[in-house]
Amino acid sequence: MKRIYLDQACTSFPKPESVPIAMAAYIRNLGVNMNRGCYSEAYDVEEKVFETRELLCQLFHGDDVKNVVFTKNITESLNVLLKGFLKPGDHLLVSSMEHNAMMRPLTQLAKQGVTFSRIPCESDGSLCQEKMEALLQPNTRMVAMLHASNVCGTVMPIAEVGEFCKNHGLTFLLDSAQTAGILPINMEEMHIDAVAFTGHKSLLGPQGIGGFVIKEHLIEKIEPLLSGGTGSISHTEEIPEFMPDRFEPGTMNIPGILGLREGLLFIKKNGRKTIAEKEKALTERFLHGIKGCDRIQVVGKETMHNRVGVVSIIIEGMDPAVVADCLDREFQIMVRVGLHCSPSAHKTLHTYPMGTVRFSFGYFNTEEDVDAAIAAVIRIAMEESKWN
Ligand SMILES: Cc1ncc(COP(=O)(O)O)c(C=O)c1O
Repeated sequence: MKRIYLDQACTSFPKPESVPIAMAAYIRNLGVNMNRGCYSEAYDVEEKVFETRELLCQLFHGDDVKNVVFTKNITESLNVLLKGFLKPGDHLLVSSMEHNAMMRPLTQLAKQGVTFSRIPCESDGSLCQEKMEALLQPNTRMVAMLHASNVCGTVMPIAEVGEFCKNHGLTFLLDSAQTAGILPINMEEMHIDAVAFTGHKSLLGPQGIGGFVIKEHLIEKIEPLLSGGTGSISHTEEIPEFMPDRFEPGTMNIPGILGLREGLLFIKKNGRKTIAEKEKALTERFLHGIKGCDRIQVVGKETMHNRVGVVSIIIEGMDPAVVADCLDREFQIMVRVGLHCSPSAHKTLHTYPMGTVRFSFGYFNTEEDVDAAIAAVIRIAMEESKWN
Protein backbone atom coordinates (compact mmCIF):
# COMPACT_ATOMS: atom_id res chain seq x y z
CA MET A 1 0.00 0.00 0.00
CA LYS A 2 1.32 3.42 -0.97
CA ARG A 3 2.38 5.70 1.89
CA ILE A 4 0.63 9.09 1.72
CA TYR A 5 2.32 12.19 3.11
CA LEU A 6 -0.14 14.77 4.45
CA ASP A 7 2.17 16.66 6.81
CA GLN A 8 3.15 19.44 4.41
CA ALA A 9 2.78 22.16 7.05
CA CYS A 10 5.59 20.47 8.98
CA THR A 11 7.89 20.24 5.99
CA SER A 12 7.05 19.88 2.31
CA PHE A 13 7.67 16.55 0.59
CA PRO A 14 8.56 15.64 -2.05
CA LYS A 15 10.63 18.55 -3.29
CA PRO A 16 10.86 19.51 -6.96
CA GLU A 17 13.36 17.11 -8.55
CA SER A 18 15.71 20.02 -9.31
CA VAL A 19 16.26 20.59 -5.55
CA PRO A 20 18.22 17.42 -4.72
CA ILE A 21 19.92 17.51 -8.14
CA ALA A 22 21.33 21.01 -7.55
CA MET A 23 22.39 20.22 -3.99
CA ALA A 24 24.14 17.00 -4.96
CA ALA A 25 25.82 18.66 -7.96
CA TYR A 26 27.23 21.39 -5.73
CA ILE A 27 28.55 18.96 -3.14
CA ARG A 28 29.93 16.56 -5.74
CA ASN A 29 31.35 18.90 -8.35
CA LEU A 30 31.93 22.35 -6.91
CA GLY A 31 31.96 22.35 -3.12
CA VAL A 32 33.79 25.63 -2.56
CA ASN A 33 32.91 28.27 0.02
CA MET A 34 31.67 31.76 -0.77
CA ASN A 35 33.08 35.19 0.20
CA ARG A 36 36.44 33.56 0.90
CA GLY A 37 38.04 32.26 -2.30
CA CYS A 38 39.57 34.39 -5.08
CA TYR A 39 38.88 31.80 -7.80
CA SER A 40 36.17 31.50 -10.41
CA GLU A 41 34.38 28.58 -8.67
CA ALA A 42 33.84 30.77 -5.61
CA TYR A 43 32.50 33.57 -7.82
CA ASP A 44 30.06 31.11 -9.44
CA VAL A 45 28.71 30.11 -6.02
CA GLU A 46 28.44 33.76 -4.97
CA GLU A 47 26.45 34.52 -8.12
CA LYS A 48 23.96 31.72 -7.45
CA VAL A 49 23.57 32.83 -3.83
CA PHE A 50 22.99 36.39 -5.04
CA GLU A 51 20.34 35.12 -7.47
CA THR A 52 18.61 33.36 -4.57
CA ARG A 53 18.52 36.65 -2.66
CA GLU A 54 17.05 38.29 -5.77
CA LEU A 55 14.29 35.67 -6.02
CA LEU A 56 13.39 36.19 -2.35
CA CYS A 57 13.50 39.96 -2.66
CA GLN A 58 11.10 39.74 -5.63
CA LEU A 59 8.81 37.30 -3.83
CA PHE A 60 8.40 39.54 -0.77
CA HIS A 61 8.82 42.89 -2.56
CA GLY A 62 11.79 43.84 -0.39
CA ASP A 63 13.52 47.18 -0.85
CA ASP A 64 17.03 45.88 -1.61
CA VAL A 65 18.59 42.51 -2.50
CA LYS A 66 21.36 43.03 0.07
CA ASN A 67 18.71 43.12 2.80
CA VAL A 68 17.89 39.43 2.27
CA VAL A 69 19.64 37.51 5.06
CA PHE A 70 20.09 33.75 5.33
CA THR A 71 19.76 31.88 8.63
CA LYS A 72 19.14 28.22 9.31
CA ASN A 73 15.34 28.50 9.69
CA ILE A 74 12.53 30.86 10.66
CA THR A 75 13.07 30.09 14.35
CA GLU A 76 16.58 31.53 14.13
CA SER A 77 15.28 34.50 12.11
CA LEU A 78 12.64 35.34 14.72
CA ASN A 79 15.24 35.03 17.49
CA VAL A 80 17.59 37.41 15.66
CA LEU A 81 14.87 39.96 14.94
CA LEU A 82 13.07 39.88 18.29
CA LYS A 83 16.16 39.73 20.50
CA GLY A 84 18.02 42.25 18.38
CA PHE A 85 15.20 44.79 18.34
CA LEU A 86 13.42 44.62 21.69
CA LYS A 87 14.98 46.21 24.78
CA PRO A 88 13.99 45.96 28.46
CA GLY A 89 10.93 48.16 28.97
CA ASP A 90 9.57 47.60 25.42
CA HIS A 91 6.12 46.20 24.78
CA LEU A 92 4.75 44.43 21.70
CA LEU A 93 1.55 42.86 20.42
CA VAL A 94 1.30 39.28 19.18
CA SER A 95 -1.76 37.26 18.18
CA SER A 96 -3.10 34.49 20.40
CA MET A 97 -2.34 32.02 17.57
CA GLU A 98 1.46 32.22 17.57
CA HIS A 99 3.88 29.31 17.20
CA ASN A 100 6.51 28.73 19.89
CA ALA A 101 9.12 29.99 17.42
CA MET A 102 7.66 33.38 18.33
CA MET A 103 6.54 32.77 21.89
CA ARG A 104 9.63 31.11 23.35
CA PRO A 105 12.01 33.96 22.43
CA LEU A 106 9.41 36.36 23.85
CA THR A 107 9.12 34.34 27.05
CA GLN A 108 12.91 34.57 27.35
CA LEU A 109 12.80 38.31 26.68
CA ALA A 110 10.04 38.73 29.27
CA LYS A 111 12.60 37.70 31.91
CA GLN A 112 14.63 40.74 30.83
CA GLY A 113 11.75 43.20 31.09
CA VAL A 114 10.09 43.01 27.65
CA THR A 115 6.31 42.71 27.90
CA PHE A 116 3.76 41.52 25.37
CA SER A 117 -0.03 41.45 24.98
CA ARG A 118 -1.89 38.81 23.01
CA ILE A 119 -4.46 40.11 20.55
CA PRO A 120 -7.46 37.83 21.06
CA CYS A 121 -8.68 35.65 18.20
CA GLU A 122 -12.08 34.08 17.60
CA SER A 123 -12.56 30.36 18.15
CA ASP A 124 -11.90 29.82 14.41
CA GLY A 125 -8.51 31.54 14.73
CA SER A 126 -9.45 34.84 13.09
CA LEU A 127 -7.91 37.97 14.54
CA CYS A 128 -10.03 40.39 16.59
CA GLN A 129 -8.54 43.41 14.85
CA GLU A 130 -10.85 45.82 16.62
CA LYS A 131 -9.22 44.89 19.95
CA MET A 132 -5.72 45.97 18.90
CA GLU A 133 -6.01 49.67 19.63
CA ALA A 134 -7.01 49.14 23.28
CA LEU A 135 -3.93 46.96 23.87
CA LEU A 136 -1.47 49.68 22.88
CA GLN A 137 0.76 51.15 25.59
CA PRO A 138 3.07 54.18 25.45
CA ASN A 139 6.03 51.77 25.19
CA THR A 140 4.56 49.54 22.40
CA ARG A 141 7.14 49.27 19.60
CA MET A 142 6.17 46.28 17.53
CA VAL A 143 3.47 43.94 16.24
CA ALA A 144 4.80 40.44 15.54
CA MET A 145 2.44 37.93 13.99
CA LEU A 146 2.15 34.80 11.90
CA HIS A 147 0.49 35.06 8.50
CA ALA A 148 -1.44 31.80 8.76
CA SER A 149 -2.01 29.39 11.60
CA ASN A 150 -0.06 26.15 11.51
CA VAL A 151 -2.85 24.57 13.57
CA CYS A 152 -6.01 25.41 11.63
CA GLY A 153 -4.84 27.34 8.54
CA THR A 154 -6.65 30.59 9.34
CA VAL A 155 -5.08 33.57 7.57
CA MET A 156 -4.45 36.85 9.38
CA PRO A 157 -5.41 40.18 7.76
CA ILE A 158 -1.83 41.34 7.35
CA ALA A 159 -2.55 44.28 5.04
CA GLU A 160 -4.84 45.74 7.72
CA VAL A 161 -2.35 44.97 10.49
CA GLY A 162 0.35 46.69 8.40
CA GLU A 163 -1.86 49.75 8.02
CA PHE A 164 -2.43 49.76 11.79
CA CYS A 165 1.34 49.60 12.38
CA LYS A 166 1.96 52.43 9.95
CA ASN A 167 -0.68 54.62 11.60
CA HIS A 168 0.74 53.98 15.08
CA GLY A 169 4.44 54.11 14.22
CA LEU A 170 4.99 50.44 15.08
CA THR A 171 7.43 47.97 13.52
CA PHE A 172 5.65 45.04 11.85
CA LEU A 173 7.36 41.64 11.90
CA LEU A 174 5.73 38.81 9.92
CA ASP A 175 6.17 35.05 10.40
CA SER A 176 5.56 33.68 6.88
CA ALA A 177 6.21 29.99 7.72
CA GLN A 178 2.85 28.75 6.42
CA THR A 179 2.30 31.17 3.55
CA ALA A 180 5.56 32.11 1.78
CA GLY A 181 5.27 30.96 -1.82
CA ILE A 182 1.50 30.48 -1.46
CA LEU A 183 -0.07 33.82 -0.50
CA PRO A 184 0.98 37.28 -1.70
CA ILE A 185 3.30 39.09 0.73
CA ASN A 186 4.17 42.61 -0.33
CA MET A 187 6.42 44.34 2.21
CA GLU A 188 5.97 47.69 0.52
CA GLU A 189 2.20 47.74 0.09
CA MET A 190 1.44 45.92 3.35
CA HIS A 191 3.85 48.04 5.45
CA ILE A 192 5.79 45.02 6.68
CA ASP A 193 9.21 45.93 8.11
CA ALA A 194 10.64 42.42 8.30
CA VAL A 195 9.49 39.07 6.92
CA ALA A 196 10.95 35.93 8.46
CA PHE A 197 10.86 32.83 6.23
CA THR A 198 11.78 29.17 6.36
CA GLY A 199 13.01 27.34 3.28
CA HIS A 200 11.71 23.84 3.82
CA LYS A 201 7.94 24.33 3.84
CA SER A 202 6.00 25.99 0.99
CA LEU A 203 9.19 27.48 -0.49
CA LEU A 204 9.96 23.85 -1.40
CA GLY A 205 13.64 23.94 -0.38
CA PRO A 206 15.52 21.65 2.01
CA GLN A 207 15.69 21.78 5.81
CA GLY A 208 18.34 23.93 7.45
CA ILE A 209 17.89 27.07 5.38
CA GLY A 210 15.72 30.09 6.17
CA GLY A 211 16.18 33.78 6.61
CA PHE A 212 14.57 37.18 6.73
CA VAL A 213 14.05 40.19 4.51
CA ILE A 214 14.36 43.49 6.30
CA LYS A 215 13.67 47.09 5.33
CA GLU A 216 16.60 49.48 5.22
CA HIS A 217 15.39 51.72 8.06
CA LEU A 218 15.27 48.78 10.51
CA ILE A 219 18.78 47.43 9.98
CA GLU A 220 20.63 49.65 12.46
CA LYS A 221 17.92 49.08 15.08
CA ILE A 222 18.66 45.34 15.20
CA GLU A 223 21.66 44.40 17.30
CA PRO A 224 23.19 41.23 15.73
CA LEU A 225 22.63 38.16 17.88
CA LEU A 226 25.53 36.22 16.36
CA SER A 227 28.95 37.43 15.29
CA GLY A 228 32.06 35.97 13.70
CA GLY A 229 34.03 35.85 10.49
CA THR A 230 32.29 36.95 7.31
CA GLY A 231 35.20 36.94 4.85
CA SER A 232 34.81 40.72 4.61
CA ILE A 233 36.71 43.63 6.29
CA SER A 234 39.01 41.06 7.88
CA HIS A 235 41.38 43.77 9.19
CA THR A 236 38.96 44.55 12.02
CA GLU A 237 37.40 42.61 14.89
CA GLU A 238 34.23 44.71 14.70
CA ILE A 239 31.01 43.31 13.17
CA PRO A 240 30.48 44.68 9.63
CA GLU A 241 27.71 47.25 9.54
CA PHE A 242 26.86 46.60 5.91
CA MET A 243 24.35 44.07 4.65
CA PRO A 244 23.99 41.14 4.52
CA ASP A 245 27.29 40.55 6.38
CA ARG A 246 25.96 42.27 9.52
CA PHE A 247 23.75 39.22 10.14
CA GLU A 248 25.59 36.42 8.33
CA PRO A 249 28.65 35.36 10.33
CA GLY A 250 30.28 31.97 9.75
CA THR A 251 30.20 29.60 6.80
CA MET A 252 26.81 29.57 5.13
CA ASN A 253 24.63 26.57 4.30
CA ILE A 254 25.44 26.73 0.58
CA PRO A 255 23.83 23.39 -0.38
CA GLY A 256 20.71 24.62 1.42
CA ILE A 257 20.72 27.96 -0.39
CA LEU A 258 21.18 26.26 -3.77
CA GLY A 259 18.33 23.85 -2.97
CA LEU A 260 16.14 26.77 -1.93
CA ARG A 261 17.05 28.54 -5.17
CA GLU A 262 15.59 25.61 -7.10
CA GLY A 263 12.44 25.66 -4.95
CA LEU A 264 12.02 29.37 -5.68
CA LEU A 265 12.64 28.86 -9.40
CA PHE A 266 10.04 26.09 -9.41
CA ILE A 267 7.50 28.45 -7.81
CA LYS A 268 8.37 31.18 -10.29
CA LYS A 269 8.07 28.83 -13.27
CA ASN A 270 4.80 27.22 -12.22
CA GLY A 271 3.31 30.35 -10.69
CA ARG A 272 2.55 31.04 -7.02
CA LYS A 273 -1.15 31.34 -7.85
CA THR A 274 -1.27 28.00 -9.67
CA ILE A 275 0.39 26.29 -6.72
CA ALA A 276 -1.99 27.99 -4.29
CA GLU A 277 -5.02 27.02 -6.41
CA LYS A 278 -3.99 23.37 -6.39
CA GLU A 279 -3.52 23.33 -2.61
CA LYS A 280 -6.83 25.12 -2.21
CA ALA A 281 -8.67 22.60 -4.39
CA LEU A 282 -7.23 19.65 -2.44
CA THR A 283 -8.08 21.24 0.90
CA GLU A 284 -11.61 22.06 -0.26
CA ARG A 285 -12.05 18.48 -1.43
CA PHE A 286 -10.99 17.20 1.98
CA LEU A 287 -13.26 19.60 3.88
CA HIS A 288 -16.18 18.68 1.63
CA GLY A 289 -15.47 14.95 1.89
CA ILE A 290 -15.49 14.79 5.70
CA LYS A 291 -18.48 17.09 6.06
CA GLY A 292 -21.04 14.30 5.96
CA CYS A 293 -19.61 12.54 9.02
CA ASP A 294 -20.95 14.20 12.14
CA ARG A 295 -18.46 12.44 14.43
CA ILE A 296 -15.67 14.50 12.81
CA GLN A 297 -15.27 18.08 13.94
CA VAL A 298 -13.19 20.54 11.93
CA VAL A 299 -11.27 22.85 14.26
CA GLY A 300 -11.29 26.40 12.89
CA LYS A 301 -12.86 27.47 9.63
CA GLU A 302 -15.02 24.95 7.77
CA THR A 303 -14.73 26.74 4.44
CA MET A 304 -11.85 27.90 2.25
CA HIS A 305 -12.40 31.56 3.07
CA ASN A 306 -9.17 33.04 4.52
CA ARG A 307 -7.40 29.74 5.04
CA VAL A 308 -4.43 27.78 3.70
CA GLY A 309 -4.14 24.01 3.22
CA VAL A 310 -3.92 23.09 6.90
CA VAL A 311 -6.90 21.31 8.47
CA SER A 312 -7.14 20.22 12.11
CA ILE A 313 -9.84 17.79 13.18
CA ILE A 314 -10.98 15.93 16.24
CA ILE A 315 -13.07 12.78 16.28
CA GLU A 316 -15.69 12.53 18.97
CA GLY A 317 -14.61 10.25 21.79
CA MET A 318 -11.15 9.55 20.39
CA ASP A 319 -7.71 10.65 21.51
CA PRO A 320 -6.05 12.44 18.54
CA ALA A 321 -2.93 10.33 19.14
CA VAL A 322 -4.94 7.13 18.58
CA VAL A 323 -6.42 8.55 15.38
CA ALA A 324 -2.99 9.52 14.03
CA ASP A 325 -1.59 6.13 14.99
CA CYS A 326 -4.43 4.36 13.11
CA LEU A 327 -3.90 6.57 10.08
CA ASP A 328 -0.23 5.67 10.06
CA ARG A 329 -0.41 1.96 10.78
CA GLU A 330 -3.71 0.90 9.23
CA PHE A 331 -4.05 3.36 6.37
CA GLN A 332 -0.43 4.39 5.60
CA ILE A 333 -1.29 8.07 5.98
CA MET A 334 1.19 10.44 7.64
CA VAL A 335 -0.26 13.37 9.60
CA ARG A 336 0.74 15.45 12.61
CA VAL A 337 -0.87 15.10 16.03
CA GLY A 338 -0.83 17.03 19.29
CA LEU A 339 -0.28 20.70 19.98
CA HIS A 340 1.92 21.51 16.96
CA CYS A 341 4.26 23.76 19.04
CA SER A 342 1.36 26.18 19.52
CA PRO A 343 -0.22 25.95 23.00
CA SER A 344 -1.71 29.43 22.81
CA ALA A 345 -3.42 28.65 19.50
CA HIS A 346 -4.99 25.53 20.98
CA LYS A 347 -6.23 27.52 23.97
CA THR A 348 -7.86 29.92 21.48
CA LEU A 349 -9.39 27.05 19.51
CA HIS A 350 -10.50 25.23 22.70
CA THR A 351 -8.43 22.15 21.88
CA TYR A 352 -5.90 22.49 24.70
CA PRO A 353 -4.38 20.27 26.10
CA MET A 354 -5.62 17.36 23.98
CA GLY A 355 -4.58 18.84 20.63
CA THR A 356 -5.79 17.83 17.19
CA VAL A 357 -5.04 15.62 14.21
CA ARG A 358 -3.64 17.86 11.50
CA PHE A 359 -3.82 17.17 7.77
CA SER A 360 -1.89 19.49 5.48
CA PHE A 361 -1.83 19.43 1.71
CA GLY A 362 0.80 20.48 -0.80
CA TYR A 363 1.36 20.92 -4.50
CA PHE A 364 2.59 17.36 -5.02
CA ASN A 365 -0.41 15.72 -3.32
CA THR A 366 -3.14 14.28 -5.52
CA GLU A 367 -6.91 13.97 -5.38
CA GLU A 368 -6.36 10.24 -4.74
CA ASP A 369 -4.31 11.11 -1.63
CA VAL A 370 -7.14 13.29 -0.37
CA ASP A 371 -9.81 10.69 -1.13
CA ALA A 372 -7.81 8.04 0.71
CA ALA A 373 -7.56 10.38 3.72
CA ILE A 374 -11.30 11.09 3.65
CA ALA A 375 -12.17 7.39 3.48
CA ALA A 376 -9.71 6.52 6.25
CA VAL A 377 -10.77 9.19 8.67
CA ILE A 378 -14.48 8.46 8.17
CA ARG A 379 -13.85 4.76 8.73
CA ILE A 380 -11.93 5.46 11.92
CA ALA A 381 -14.73 7.74 13.15
CA MET A 382 -17.47 5.23 12.33
CA GLU A 383 -15.61 2.26 13.82
CA GLU A 384 -14.37 4.21 16.84
CA SER A 385 -14.89 1.34 19.29
CA LYS A 386 -12.68 -0.95 17.17
CA TRP A 387 -9.66 1.38 17.45
CA ASN A 388 -10.13 2.87 20.91
C1 LIG B 1 3.79 29.43 11.97
C2 LIG B 1 5.14 28.80 12.18
N1 LIG B 1 6.15 29.56 12.63
C3 LIG B 1 7.37 29.05 12.83
C4 LIG B 1 7.66 27.74 12.56
C5 LIG B 1 9.04 27.20 12.79
O1 LIG B 1 9.65 26.82 11.59
P1 LIG B 1 11.15 26.25 11.57
O2 LIG B 1 11.12 25.01 12.41
O3 LIG B 1 11.42 25.98 10.14
O4 LIG B 1 12.02 27.28 12.17
C6 LIG B 1 6.64 26.90 12.10
C7 LIG B 1 6.89 25.47 11.85
O5 LIG B 1 6.02 24.65 11.84
C8 LIG B 1 5.36 27.46 11.88
O6 LIG B 1 4.35 26.71 11.43
